[in-house]
Order: sequence, then C-alpha cells, then structure tokens
Amino acid sequence: MKLFDVYPINEITIAKAKGSYVWDDKGEQYLDLYGGHAVISIGHTHPHWVKRIEEQLNKIAFYSNSIKIPLQDELAEKLGKVSGKTDYQLFLCNSGAEANENALKLASFQNGRKKVIAFSKAFHGRTSLAVSATDNKNYIAPVNETENVIFLPFNDTDALESCFKKNGDEISSVIIEGIQGVGGINIADDSFLQKIRSLCDEYGAIYIADSVQCGYGRSGKFFSHDFAGVNADIYTMAKGMGNGFPIGGIIISPDIKPKHFQLGTTFGGNHLACAAALAVLEIIESEKLMGNAVMVGKFLRDELSAIPQLKNVRGRGLMIGFDVPDELKDLKKKLLWNQKIFTGEAKPNIIRLLPSLALKKRDAEQFIDSIKEEIGILTSTSTPAN
Ligand SMILES: Cc1ncc(COP(=O)(O)O)c(C=O)c1O
Repeated sequence: MKLFDVYPINEITIAKAKGSYVWDDKGEQYLDLYGGHAVISIGHTHPHWVKRIEEQLNKIAFYSNSIKIPLQDELAEKLGKVSGKTDYQLFLCNSGAEANENALKLASFQNGRKKVIAFSKAFHGRTSLAVSATDNKNYIAPVNETENVIFLPFNDTDALESCFKKNGDEISSVIIEGIQGVGGINIADDSFLQKIRSLCDEYGAIYIADSVQCGYGRSGKFFSHDFAGVNADIYTMAKGMGNGFPIGGIIISPDIKPKHFQLGTTFGGNHLACAAALAVLEIIESEKLMGNAVMVGKFLRDELSAIPQLKNVRGRGLMIGFDVPDELKDLKKKLLWNQKIFTGEAKPNIIRLLPSLALKKRDAEQFIDSIKEEIGILTSTSTPAN
C-alpha cells in the first residue's frame, strides 16, 4: 500500500528531537522555528512531559467517557488556573478542526440559529462546518458548500455592523482567530474583537475564539484574544495543548449550560492525552513560558524589523510573520537547506515563525545571524539599503 499523497514534503526524515532542535536520520542538527506547525509548545521531548506520559502509559492509556476520569477534572482545574478562565467548562476532543466543529455546533444548539460569520483569510480546519468557515475554495468540497457561512472582510467593523443589522436574528456565531495563522499572521484589532463581543451580546450570538494556533501562550497571553480585554463565549484549542500528543478542546462560558448527548467523543479526554496536556500546563507555568514568549518574541521582531529587505514584521509573542520580496522568495528553502533551520510559510512570500515557547535567546540570535547571512547583509551592512 502507498500513502495517499496529499502533502508536498521536504526530503528529510527526523529521527530525534530535543527542546528547539531536531536531528535527521543522518545526524544533521536543525533549529526548529516551525514547531511542527505551532504544535511544539514546551519543547520537543521535554523530560517532564515524557515522564508523565510514560507513567500514565504504565497505568492505563484509555477508557471511554462512560466512566469517571479524574485526570479530566485535574486538567480542567489547571487549565482554568493557567488561562484565567476559572469559571469556564471544558469539553475535550482530539484536534483543532474537531474543536471548532464542536464550538459551532454548540453555539447553534444554544441559540437555535444557523448562520456563522467568518472572515477573509480565515482557517478553521479541514472538516465539515470548520472547512466551510475556512476562506479557501480549494479546501471546500462540494459537500461542504453551505449558505450558512457569511464571509466578511477581516477587521472591518462597518461590514460586521451592517451584517448584524441585516441578519442579526439569524446569526448563531462569529468565529475568529485572534491572530490568523495560515492566513499569514494577521492580528485581529482589539477594537474589532470588542465590537464582535458587543454585537454578539446585542443580537444573542456566540463569540467563538479560534485559539488553535494563536492560543496556549504563544502570543504571550494564554489566549491572544485576551489582548482585547473582552471574553469570548467559547475558546477552541489544540496544537500546543499536548506538545504533539493529539488533544483538542473547547472551553465554554458558564452562561452556556450542558445537555446530555449534544456533544460526545470516543477518544477525547483519554487518560494518556490528559496526562500529556497536564504536563504541558505544568511546564508553561513552572518555566514561565509565556514570559519567555514575550521576551524572545520581542527580540526577534526588533531584529527582523531592522533588516531592510524584510517587510511588515508582525505578530505577538512567538507567533511572528514577515514578508519577503520576490527576489528572496527562496529564503525559506535556503534557511532550511543552507542554515538547517525550519520555518513556516504562508502565501505569497510570507515566512512564519512558530517555535517552541521555550526558545532560547541564543537560538533566536543564531536565526538572526543565519537570515542575515542568507540575505547577504552580514558582509554588506555598510551598504545603504537604497
Ligand atoms: C486557527 C486554526 N484552526 C483550526 C486548525 C485545524 O486544526 P487541526 O489540523 O488540528 O484539525 C488549524 C490548523 O492549522 C488552525 O491553524
């Protein structure tokens, strides 16, 4: 049997990983500023995470949600504490798309409505309604096409207001990333998120904060939406939550009451996944990783902004993007093959940095030197940019 060929891949086999580094099967070392697509939150193979999973594996790995799983309560308690949303309720699942499906569905159960507002360049996952709310026609199969999703321009308050004025009593939910990831690191304006909150309150709609990529401390706050100073009704999470162990979840405002059988899952919240997720939160807290994300992220953005060839350096914490001019469109490949550094990308010509939140300053410095070398400015800093 062959694999179903859905990804363009780099011809590299990673055999080992530690912290912000990975090694291929020939022993070559790479600096990982991609984190397997924003998944590695506390660093690869963190010893506490490995130990917690190993210990749990030797007790019990899985049982279904038909019995009590105290690890889920422990996780809910810890997540409430670290995120600051102590009065929210946790529902566990397995991936980001699944988290968004559950959030959209729960919103619709809650207010009995069908329409969802999503935004230009949004990415919410590959399945069902999550993909219908994703602004990329190539990902949407005919079976996913629906009139229930209304796309509006990102950060356009007037468009949002007039949409609510026109369709307010039909809108079930508004789903938005605090910082668009796949869309190219675009920050939702604080005033825009505040407007979403107030319109949702006015019209009885549910504000869903897709924090799958921008959440879990990556922005320097636990949820990047929190920069706006208003709460969402539902936050969706995955990626960094298990540091590579598959787990996703939604946290739900106390105003939304649970009803048996509306949501459910076989694997979600299994013992092993909870152990991995607890280890992640313990490390985020004990190693003060959100503070590190703020500090190293600022260093990276400052240094990148000082490189004249790189444009529009943006982001928060360790979720960073910048535009590269057409003549440097191979920069990502050069960083990988010449400098042995993994980075992410977005089209067209955008480089994304999504490293572990434990990235060390000296590794960030190495990256800055490497990018300067590839651009050719380590040797020509005296040449004026123009
Ligand atoms: C913002 C956002 N939402 C949802 C998803 C989907 O997550 P998953 O691939 O775990 O289904 C992603 C994945 O990249 C994402 O970036």
